[in-house]
Amino acid sequence: MLPPRILVTGANGLVGQALARAAGRWRGADVLATGRRPALALGGFAGGTAALDVTDADAVERALQDFAPDVVLHAAGLAQVEACEADREACWALNVEATTALAAACHRHGARLVLPSTDFVFDGERGPYAEDARPAPLTHYGRTKLAAENALKASRLTRWAVARTTLVFGAPTGPAPRLDFVRWLVRELGAGRPVRVPSDQVRTPTYDEDFADGVLRIVRFGKSGTFHVAGREVLTTYALALRVAEAFGLDAGLVSPTTTTALHPGAPRPLKAGLLILRAETELGYRPRPLDAALADLRGRLGVPRPSARR
Ligand SMILES: NC(=O)c1ccc[n+]([C@@H]2O[C@H](COP(=O)([O-])OP(=O)(O)OC[C@H]3O[C@@H](n4cnc5c(N)ncnc54)[C@H](OP(=O)(O)O)[C@@H]3O)[C@@H](O)[C@H]2O)c1
Repeated sequence: MLPPRILVTGANGLVGQALARAAGRWRGADVLATGRRPALALGGFAGGTAALDVTDADAVERALQDFAPDVVLHAAGLAQVEACEADREACWALNVEATTALAAACHRHGARLVLPSTDFVFDGERGPYAEDARPAPLTHYGRTKLAAENALKASRLTRWAVARTTLVFGAPTGPAPRLDFVRWLVRELGAGRPVRVPSDQVRTPTYDEDFADGVLRIVRFGKSGTFHVAGREVLTTYALALRVAEAFGLDAGLVSPTTTTALHPGAPRPLKAGLLILRAETELGYRPRPLDAALADLRGRLGVPRPSARR
Protein backbone atom coordinates (compact mmCIF):
# COMPACT_ATOMS: atom_id res chain seq x y z
CA MET A 1 0.00 0.00 0.00
CA LEU A 2 1.05 3.64 -0.40
CA PRO A 3 2.59 5.15 2.74
CA PRO A 4 -0.43 6.26 4.75
CA ARG A 5 -1.23 9.25 6.90
CA ILE A 6 -1.36 7.86 10.45
CA LEU A 7 -2.81 9.60 13.50
CA VAL A 8 -1.87 8.11 16.89
CA THR A 9 -3.88 8.91 20.03
CA GLY A 10 -2.45 8.57 23.55
CA ALA A 11 1.06 8.95 22.15
CA ASN A 12 2.54 9.86 25.54
CA GLY A 13 1.70 6.41 26.91
CA LEU A 14 3.63 3.16 26.80
CA VAL A 15 1.73 1.67 23.86
CA GLY A 16 1.13 4.98 22.08
CA GLN A 17 4.82 5.89 22.12
CA ALA A 18 5.77 2.54 20.62
CA LEU A 19 3.12 2.90 17.91
CA ALA A 20 4.12 6.46 17.07
CA ARG A 21 7.82 5.60 16.83
CA ALA A 22 7.16 2.55 14.68
CA ALA A 23 4.78 4.48 12.42
CA GLY A 24 7.39 7.23 12.18
CA ARG A 25 9.87 4.70 10.78
CA TRP A 26 7.48 3.79 7.91
CA ARG A 27 9.20 5.38 4.97
CA GLY A 28 7.01 8.05 3.40
CA ALA A 29 4.25 7.79 6.01
CA ASP A 30 2.96 11.06 7.44
CA VAL A 31 2.47 10.60 11.19
CA LEU A 32 0.72 12.85 13.70
CA ALA A 33 1.32 11.78 17.30
CA THR A 34 -1.31 13.23 19.63
CA GLY A 35 -1.61 13.17 23.40
CA ARG A 36 -3.85 14.60 26.07
CA ARG A 37 -0.86 16.56 27.31
CA PRO A 38 0.79 18.44 24.46
CA ALA A 39 4.41 17.86 25.54
CA LEU A 40 5.21 14.71 23.61
CA ALA A 41 8.68 13.46 24.41
CA LEU A 42 9.20 10.99 21.61
CA GLY A 43 12.95 10.76 21.21
CA GLY A 44 13.95 10.09 17.61
CA PHE A 45 10.43 10.70 16.28
CA ALA A 46 10.36 13.00 13.26
CA GLY A 47 6.59 13.28 12.69
CA GLY A 48 4.19 15.95 13.82
CA THR A 49 2.77 16.30 17.31
CA ALA A 50 -0.40 17.88 18.66
CA ALA A 51 -2.61 17.92 21.73
CA LEU A 52 -5.81 15.90 21.42
CA ASP A 53 -8.20 14.98 24.22
CA VAL A 54 -10.10 12.02 22.78
CA THR A 55 -13.09 12.68 25.05
CA ASP A 56 -13.58 16.04 23.29
CA ALA A 57 -15.71 15.08 20.29
CA ASP A 58 -15.29 18.47 18.60
CA ALA A 59 -11.52 18.32 18.91
CA VAL A 60 -11.51 14.77 17.49
CA GLU A 61 -13.66 15.89 14.58
CA ARG A 62 -11.34 18.83 13.86
CA ALA A 63 -8.24 16.62 14.04
CA LEU A 64 -9.68 14.13 11.56
CA GLN A 65 -10.86 16.95 9.33
CA ASP A 66 -7.52 18.78 9.35
CA PHE A 67 -5.06 15.88 9.23
CA ALA A 68 -7.28 13.55 7.12
CA PRO A 69 -5.63 10.33 8.33
CA ASP A 70 -5.91 7.06 6.43
CA VAL A 71 -5.37 5.23 9.71
CA VAL A 72 -6.00 6.02 13.38
CA LEU A 73 -4.07 4.00 15.97
CA HIS A 74 -6.11 4.56 19.13
CA ALA A 75 -3.78 4.08 22.11
CA ALA A 76 -5.45 6.59 24.44
CA GLY A 77 -7.14 4.79 27.28
CA LEU A 78 -7.22 3.97 30.95
CA ALA A 79 -5.32 0.72 31.43
CA GLN A 80 -4.97 0.56 35.21
CA VAL A 81 -7.31 -1.96 36.80
CA GLU A 82 -7.57 -0.22 40.18
CA ALA A 83 -8.06 3.23 38.65
CA CYS A 84 -10.90 1.86 36.53
CA GLU A 85 -12.57 0.37 39.62
CA ALA A 86 -12.08 3.62 41.55
CA ASP A 87 -13.73 5.80 38.88
CA ARG A 88 -15.89 3.56 36.76
CA GLU A 89 -17.64 6.40 34.96
CA ALA A 90 -14.43 8.11 33.88
CA CYS A 91 -13.03 4.76 32.72
CA TRP A 92 -16.20 4.07 30.70
CA ALA A 93 -16.21 7.58 29.22
CA LEU A 94 -12.61 7.23 28.03
CA ASN A 95 -12.38 3.58 27.06
CA VAL A 96 -15.87 3.08 25.62
CA GLU A 97 -17.61 6.35 24.81
CA ALA A 98 -14.57 8.09 23.31
CA THR A 99 -13.77 4.98 21.25
CA THR A 100 -17.37 4.73 20.01
CA ALA A 101 -17.31 8.39 18.97
CA LEU A 102 -13.90 7.97 17.34
CA ALA A 103 -15.17 4.99 15.32
CA ALA A 104 -18.06 7.12 14.04
CA ALA A 105 -15.65 9.94 13.17
CA CYS A 106 -13.33 7.50 11.37
CA HIS A 107 -16.30 6.28 9.35
CA ARG A 108 -17.24 9.83 8.37
CA HIS A 109 -13.67 10.61 7.33
CA GLY A 110 -12.87 7.30 5.64
CA ALA A 111 -10.12 6.28 8.09
CA ARG A 112 -9.20 2.79 9.24
CA LEU A 113 -9.20 2.38 13.06
CA VAL A 114 -6.99 0.06 15.10
CA LEU A 115 -7.75 -0.40 18.81
CA PRO A 116 -5.29 -2.00 21.24
CA SER A 117 -7.19 -4.30 23.60
CA THR A 118 -6.33 -6.82 26.27
CA ASP A 119 -6.51 -10.39 27.56
CA PHE A 120 -8.47 -8.90 30.49
CA VAL A 121 -11.56 -9.40 28.27
CA PHE A 122 -11.23 -13.07 29.31
CA ASP A 123 -11.88 -14.65 32.72
CA GLY A 124 -8.52 -16.44 32.96
CA GLU A 125 -10.02 -19.90 33.40
CA ARG A 126 -8.38 -21.50 30.36
CA GLY A 127 -5.79 -19.27 28.71
CA PRO A 128 -3.77 -18.63 26.72
CA TYR A 129 -6.61 -17.62 24.44
CA ALA A 130 -7.22 -17.61 20.69
CA GLU A 131 -9.14 -14.78 19.04
CA ASP A 132 -12.41 -16.71 18.91
CA ALA A 133 -12.46 -17.64 22.61
CA ARG A 134 -15.51 -16.37 24.47
CA PRO A 135 -14.81 -13.16 26.43
CA ALA A 136 -15.99 -12.96 30.05
CA PRO A 137 -14.24 -10.04 31.78
CA LEU A 138 -13.79 -10.09 35.56
CA THR A 139 -12.94 -6.42 36.02
CA HIS A 140 -14.47 -3.09 35.09
CA TYR A 141 -11.35 -2.42 33.01
CA GLY A 142 -11.92 -5.65 31.07
CA ARG A 143 -15.61 -4.84 30.61
CA THR A 144 -14.80 -1.41 29.18
CA LYS A 145 -12.29 -2.88 26.73
CA LEU A 146 -14.76 -5.54 25.61
CA ALA A 147 -17.45 -2.88 25.20
CA ALA A 148 -15.01 -0.81 23.11
CA GLU A 149 -14.24 -3.83 20.92
CA ASN A 150 -17.98 -4.40 20.48
CA ALA A 151 -18.49 -0.73 19.64
CA LEU A 152 -16.07 -1.10 16.72
CA LYS A 153 -17.84 -4.23 15.51
CA ALA A 154 -21.26 -2.55 15.78
CA SER A 155 -20.10 0.66 14.11
CA ARG A 156 -20.54 1.46 10.44
CA LEU A 157 -16.78 1.16 9.99
CA THR A 158 -15.79 -1.75 7.80
CA ARG A 159 -12.03 -1.19 8.15
CA TRP A 160 -11.36 -1.71 11.83
CA ALA A 161 -9.08 -3.99 13.79
CA VAL A 162 -8.71 -4.95 17.43
CA ALA A 163 -5.15 -5.82 18.45
CA ARG A 164 -5.31 -7.59 21.82
CA THR A 165 -2.11 -7.69 23.78
CA THR A 166 -0.92 -8.35 27.34
CA LEU A 167 1.68 -7.28 29.88
CA VAL A 168 3.45 -4.83 27.60
CA PHE A 169 6.92 -3.72 28.62
CA GLY A 170 9.27 -1.24 27.03
CA ALA A 171 11.18 1.97 27.46
CA PRO A 172 8.89 4.97 27.02
CA THR A 173 10.44 8.38 27.50
CA GLY A 174 9.04 11.64 28.79
CA PRO A 175 8.13 13.29 32.06
CA ALA A 176 6.48 10.46 33.96
CA PRO A 177 5.23 7.60 31.84
CA ARG A 178 3.43 4.87 33.77
CA LEU A 179 5.88 2.23 35.00
CA ASP A 180 5.20 -1.13 33.41
CA PHE A 181 5.80 -4.35 35.35
CA VAL A 182 9.31 -4.95 34.02
CA ARG A 183 10.62 -1.44 34.62
CA TRP A 184 9.00 -1.38 38.07
CA LEU A 185 10.79 -4.62 38.86
CA VAL A 186 14.13 -3.30 37.58
CA ARG A 187 13.71 -0.19 39.72
CA GLU A 188 12.78 -2.12 42.88
CA LEU A 189 15.41 -4.84 42.57
CA GLY A 190 17.99 -2.24 41.51
CA ALA A 191 17.30 -0.42 44.78
CA GLY A 192 17.67 -3.68 46.71
CA ARG A 193 14.00 -3.75 47.74
CA PRO A 194 12.23 -7.13 48.07
CA VAL A 195 9.15 -7.63 45.88
CA ARG A 196 6.21 -10.01 45.98
CA VAL A 197 5.00 -11.18 42.59
CA PRO A 198 1.99 -13.41 41.80
CA SER A 199 2.89 -16.96 40.82
CA ASP A 200 -0.70 -17.74 39.81
CA GLN A 201 -1.02 -15.28 36.88
CA VAL A 202 -0.12 -16.67 33.48
CA ARG A 203 0.69 -14.21 30.71
CA THR A 204 2.44 -13.92 27.35
CA PRO A 205 4.56 -10.80 28.03
CA THR A 206 4.86 -8.47 25.07
CA TYR A 207 7.74 -6.21 24.07
CA ASP A 208 6.43 -2.77 23.08
CA GLU A 209 8.34 -2.74 19.77
CA ASP A 210 7.02 -6.17 18.80
CA PHE A 211 3.45 -5.09 19.51
CA ALA A 212 3.93 -1.97 17.39
CA ASP A 213 5.38 -4.10 14.59
CA GLY A 214 2.31 -6.38 14.73
CA VAL A 215 -0.10 -3.46 14.63
CA LEU A 216 1.65 -1.90 11.63
CA ARG A 217 1.50 -5.26 9.88
CA ILE A 218 -2.29 -5.20 10.35
CA VAL A 219 -2.27 -1.81 8.62
CA ARG A 220 0.17 -2.80 5.84
CA PHE A 221 -1.80 -5.96 5.06
CA GLY A 222 -5.09 -4.04 5.14
CA LYS A 223 -6.54 -6.52 7.64
CA SER A 224 -9.73 -6.17 9.63
CA GLY A 225 -11.01 -8.11 12.62
CA THR A 226 -9.41 -9.25 15.86
CA PHE A 227 -5.75 -10.20 16.18
CA HIS A 228 -3.74 -11.32 19.17
CA VAL A 229 -0.41 -9.48 19.09
CA ALA A 230 1.67 -10.61 22.06
CA GLY A 231 4.83 -12.45 23.02
CA ARG A 232 5.08 -16.16 22.28
CA GLU A 233 6.28 -17.41 25.67
CA VAL A 234 3.67 -18.46 28.21
CA LEU A 235 4.82 -17.97 31.80
CA THR A 236 3.74 -16.73 35.20
CA THR A 237 4.55 -13.21 36.28
CA TYR A 238 6.76 -14.75 38.98
CA ALA A 239 8.73 -16.68 36.35
CA LEU A 240 8.97 -13.47 34.33
CA ALA A 241 10.36 -11.64 37.37
CA LEU A 242 13.12 -14.23 37.70
CA ARG A 243 13.96 -13.87 34.00
CA VAL A 244 14.11 -10.08 34.37
CA ALA A 245 16.41 -10.36 37.38
CA GLU A 246 18.68 -12.66 35.40
CA ALA A 247 18.70 -10.46 32.29
CA PHE A 248 19.51 -7.32 34.29
CA GLY A 249 21.99 -8.98 36.67
CA LEU A 250 19.74 -8.24 39.68
CA ASP A 251 19.22 -10.28 42.82
CA ALA A 252 16.50 -12.85 42.09
CA GLY A 253 16.52 -13.69 45.82
CA LEU A 254 14.59 -10.46 46.40
CA VAL A 255 11.63 -11.84 44.42
CA SER A 256 9.16 -13.94 46.38
CA PRO A 257 6.03 -15.60 45.01
CA THR A 258 2.58 -14.68 46.24
CA THR A 259 -1.03 -15.03 45.13
CA THR A 260 -3.14 -12.57 43.18
CA THR A 261 -5.74 -12.46 45.95
CA ALA A 262 -3.12 -11.56 48.53
CA LEU A 263 -1.76 -8.78 46.34
CA HIS A 264 -5.01 -7.36 44.91
CA PRO A 265 -7.87 -8.06 47.31
CA GLY A 266 -9.98 -5.30 45.65
CA ALA A 267 -10.04 -6.05 41.95
CA PRO A 268 -9.54 -9.63 40.75
CA ARG A 269 -7.30 -10.50 37.79
CA PRO A 270 -7.71 -13.22 35.16
CA LEU A 271 -5.28 -15.92 36.28
CA LYS A 272 -4.65 -18.31 33.41
CA ALA A 273 -4.66 -15.70 30.64
CA GLY A 274 -2.20 -14.74 27.89
CA LEU A 275 -2.82 -14.78 24.15
CA LEU A 276 -2.15 -17.24 21.34
CA ILE A 277 -0.61 -15.48 18.35
CA LEU A 278 -1.01 -18.10 15.63
CA ARG A 279 -3.34 -15.92 13.55
CA ALA A 280 -0.90 -12.99 13.59
CA GLU A 281 1.98 -15.32 12.75
CA THR A 282 0.24 -16.92 9.80
CA GLU A 283 -1.71 -13.97 8.38
CA LEU A 284 0.73 -11.14 9.16
CA GLY A 285 4.12 -12.87 9.34
CA TYR A 286 4.34 -11.51 12.91
CA ARG A 287 7.43 -12.84 14.70
CA PRO A 288 7.91 -11.46 18.21
CA ARG A 289 11.46 -11.88 19.47
CA PRO A 290 12.15 -14.43 22.21
CA LEU A 291 11.65 -13.03 25.72
CA ASP A 292 15.35 -13.03 26.60
CA ALA A 293 16.17 -11.16 23.39
CA ALA A 294 13.48 -8.61 24.20
CA LEU A 295 14.86 -8.14 27.73
CA ALA A 296 18.40 -7.76 26.35
CA ASP A 297 17.16 -5.15 23.88
CA LEU A 298 15.31 -3.33 26.65
CA ARG A 299 18.46 -3.33 28.77
CA GLY A 300 20.23 -1.54 25.93
CA ARG A 301 17.44 1.02 25.54
CA LEU A 302 17.50 1.73 29.27
CA GLY A 303 21.28 2.11 29.18
CA VAL A 304 21.88 -0.71 31.68
CA PRO A 305 25.21 -2.50 31.08
CA ARG A 306 25.25 -6.24 30.39
CA PRO A 307 25.48 -8.17 33.70
CA SER A 308 28.80 -9.78 32.67
CA ALA A 309 30.23 -6.34 31.78
CA ARG A 310 29.64 -5.16 35.35
CA ARG A 311 31.60 -7.84 37.17
N1 LIG B 1 0.17 -1.77 28.85
C1 LIG B 1 -0.35 -2.97 28.65
O1 LIG B 1 0.19 -3.99 29.14
C2 LIG B 1 -1.57 -3.13 27.80
C3 LIG B 1 -2.04 -4.42 27.58
C4 LIG B 1 -3.19 -4.60 26.83
C5 LIG B 1 -3.83 -3.50 26.28
N2 LIG B 1 -3.36 -2.26 26.50
C6 LIG B 1 -4.13 -1.13 25.95
O2 LIG B 1 -3.29 -0.18 25.36
C7 LIG B 1 -3.84 1.14 25.53
C8 LIG B 1 -2.77 2.05 26.08
O3 LIG B 1 -2.30 1.53 27.30
P1 LIG B 1 -0.89 1.95 27.92
O4 LIG B 1 -0.39 0.78 28.65
O5 LIG B 1 -0.08 2.60 26.89
O6 LIG B 1 -1.39 2.99 29.00
P2 LIG B 1 -0.66 4.35 29.44
O7 LIG B 1 0.80 4.18 29.42
O8 LIG B 1 -1.34 4.75 30.70
O9 LIG B 1 -1.06 5.33 28.27
C9 LIG B 1 -2.36 5.76 28.07
C10 LIG B 1 -2.30 7.12 27.45
O10 LIG B 1 -3.64 7.57 27.22
C11 LIG B 1 -3.62 8.95 27.47
N3 LIG B 1 -4.94 9.50 27.73
C12 LIG B 1 -5.69 9.37 28.83
N4 LIG B 1 -6.82 10.08 28.70
C13 LIG B 1 -6.76 10.68 27.49
C14 LIG B 1 -7.60 11.56 26.79
N5 LIG B 1 -8.78 11.95 27.31
N6 LIG B 1 -7.23 11.98 25.57
C15 LIG B 1 -6.05 11.58 25.04
N7 LIG B 1 -5.20 10.76 25.65
C16 LIG B 1 -5.55 10.32 26.87
C17 LIG B 1 -2.73 9.13 28.68
O11 LIG B 1 -2.34 10.48 28.72
P3 LIG B 1 -1.46 11.09 29.91
O12 LIG B 1 -0.06 10.65 29.56
O13 LIG B 1 -1.70 12.53 29.79
O14 LIG B 1 -1.98 10.46 31.15
C18 LIG B 1 -1.62 8.15 28.37
O15 LIG B 1 -0.55 8.78 27.69
C19 LIG B 1 -5.04 0.98 26.47
O16 LIG B 1 -6.22 1.06 25.72
C20 LIG B 1 -4.89 -0.41 27.05
O17 LIG B 1 -6.14 -1.01 27.26
C21 LIG B 1 -2.23 -2.03 27.27
